[in-house]
Formats: sequence, C-alpha cells, structure tokens
Amino acid sequence: MSVITWRESFPPKPQFAEKDIPDQYGRVFIITGGSSGCGYEVAKAVYNLNGRVYIAARSSENGQQAIQRIKSEPAAQHPSVKSGKGELFFLKLDLNDLSSIKDSAKEFLSRESRLDVIWHNAGVGGVPQGCVTKQGYETHFGVNALAPFLFQHFLNPICLQTASRSDVRPYATRVIWVSSSGHRGSPKPDGVNWDDMNMHSASGLRAIMKYGQSKAMNVMCAYEFARRYGPRGLVSLSLHPGSLKSGFQRNQGSIFKAITKPLLYDQHYGGLTELFAAFNRDVNTTMIDAGGRNGAYIEPWGNWGTMGEHILDGLSNRKTGERLLGAFEIMLKEYIQS
Ligand SMILES: NC(=O)c1ccc[n+]([C@@H]2O[C@H](COP(=O)([O-])OP(=O)(O)OC[C@H]3O[C@@H](n4cnc5c(N)ncnc54)[C@H](OP(=O)(O)O)[C@@H]3O)[C@@H](O)[C@H]2O)c1
Repeated sequence: MSVITWRESFPPKPQFAEKDIPDQYGRVFIITGGSSGCGYEVAKAVYNLNGRVYIAARSSENGQQAIQRIKSEPAAQHPSVKSGKGELFFLKLDLNDLSSIKDSAKEFLSRESRLDVIWHNAGVGGVPQGCVTKQGYETHFGVNALAPFLFQHFLNPICLQTASRSDVRPYATRVIWVSSSGHRGSPKPDGVNWDDMNMHSASGLRAIMKYGQSKAMNVMCAYEFARRYGPRGLVSLSLHPGSLKSGFQRNQGSIFKAITKPLLYDQHYGGLTELFAAFNRDVNTTMIDAGGRNGAYIEPWGNWGTMGEHILDGLSNRKTGERLLGAFEIMLKEYIQS
C-alpha cells in the first residue's frame, strides 16, 4: 500500500509563486487552519496581495498572534503589486464540534457579500486511537472530512453568488480541499469504508487508513462539488500540499519524527501548492473525466497530479462522490436543518 508517489516525495522546483498572482484587492478569502503551517503561509501571501482574508481557527489567541506576526513580516517580492491594502480577520471555527459550524458560517455571512476562494486546509493526522469529536465521530473523519463539508454547505450559496457576478472573472471562484498523498492508502475499492466510516475498531497498520480515508473524502468532495456546481461557475480542486515541517507532526512518535525529518520541506512550499490551486489560470469548469481539470488533484508545489487510481475509478465509474455527499447529508441532517 503506497501512500506517496516519488513525485510527491521529491517534487520538482516550484514554477508558481506569489509573484505570479495579480493584485487581490476587493476579493474575499477564507483559510481554515490559517494560524499555523501552510495555512499561515497562504494567509500571509494573500494578505500581502491586498486580499481580505479570514483566518478561520479554533483558538482566538493563536489566530490573533498569527495576524500580528503576518503584519510584522516582510511580503514576498512582487514585480507589480504594492502591499498595504490587505485585511486580516479572525473567524472562530472549531471543526471538532458540528453544532458550532453554522454559527461560524453565519458570522462570516453577516460580514461579507462575496467569497472568492476558500481553502479547507485545517486538519489533523496521527490522532491516537479512540479520540472522537464532540459528537462522537472518529477524529480524523470528523475534523478532516465531515465538518469541512458542513462548513462548505453553509457557504455554498455565497460562493455560487460570487461565481455568477458579472464583475468576477470566470473560473476564479474556487473551493480548495487540502487532502494528502495519504489518500492513496484509503480503503479499497472506493476509498471509503461504507459500512463504518468511523473505522473505530481499525488498529495497528489499518489505523493509518483512518487518516487516508478522511483525505480521500477531501479528494471526493472536490470532485463532487466540481460536478455539481461546475455548471454554475465554481471550480473545486483537491491537493497534497507536500511533506512539510509544521504543527502536523505533533502526534507523531519521536522515532518516526527522527526518520522522516530529513524528508520534510519548509511549510512555505506547501503554501505555494495551495496558492497554485487557487490562482492558476489553467482550469475551467470542464470536469477531469471529460478532459478538463475541474475536480482535479494537485501535487507539490503546484503541479497537476493524478489522484489515487481507485479513487478516480470510483468517482468516474461508480458515482462514489455522489454517494459520499448523500451519506454526509443524511448524517448531518440535524445540523443542516437547525
Ligand atoms: N505537514 C504535512 O506534511 C502534510 C502532509 C499532507 C497533508 N497535510 C495537510 O495539510 C493541512 C495543513 O496542515 P499543516 O501541515 O499546515 O499542519 P498544522 O500546522 O498542524 O496546521 C493544521 C491547522 O489545522 C487546525 N486545526 C486542527 N484541528 C482543528 C479543529 N478542530 N478546528 C479548527 N482548526 C483545526 C490547526 O489549528 P490549531 O493550531 O488550533 O491546532 C492548524 O492551524 C492539513 O489538512 C494536513 O492534513 C499536511
């Protein structure tokens, strides 16, 4: 079971960076988990490109500290954009508690009338066996997959409205799902253990599949959102940000950390992968299985990639994206209707 390809482990030098992105003045962005890691890098870049950026995170203290830090650090060099008009805000979002997600979305909707790009970037890995969210879902499943889907559900109308505006460039309104190469290690044949998505009892090596499954779900959400909403102008993509030094290693054991450390890259590179997903001009709303790129998977540091074969096969031939979102909608009925 390979969870990473050679190209994902040793990516070619980045061909896309802040300097390739035009001024973002007037556009509105949400980056979940933007107070650390590659989310922080994205928030910093877009702020310096004059965007209006919401850092959606669970700790207000960490969020405010990140905002102060971003403001105090120099912007990346740019041939034409002069920084200074960007704005940064904190938005409370706790993906561990489904009952709080609607309020986070409502708070955003009370403040903004457009949403140009959202990165569903917040996520956890290597969470100890037995950990659950407030509602009792296995933590990888709940935090990485279920809660981001619910957050996006509430934000979908504003994304679609933004995409339909006459003053918005076609294909510029995007929903980005931060997955992982680990999605390749998700259960076969479909990437999802349909009988028990929590996989509570999976232990030992099989426990890795919990993370892999949650990240396969991100890839599947990207595809299915593209399929459902592409015809209304939305672009939806997933990505593996790269193997990065970040807060992500916090749950890993010391031996694993020591072995993998030399293979990790600076988190800035992960930010570049996420920026490419949001700002490259190579995509329209034609789906991947129709020869386009909507619903596609991006590899580090901003290269069009290939998602796990079993995932694409399921999405294209067995409608697994539709099935997954249908299952989420049933599970989340109480929160969607509340
Ligand atoms: N680093 C890697 O090698 C790697 C590889 C593949 C994929 N990824 C993916 O990349 C994304 C970003 O990871 P990273 O490397 O930047 O790691 P990171 O520094 O740990 O960032 C993850 C962010 O998610 C937030 N988060 C965690 N649980 C949350 C919750 N319940 N509610 C709201 N926010 C929550 C964290 O907030 P707190 O600060 O409050 O904990 C943190 O800001 C993740 O989705 C991860 O799966 C990373």
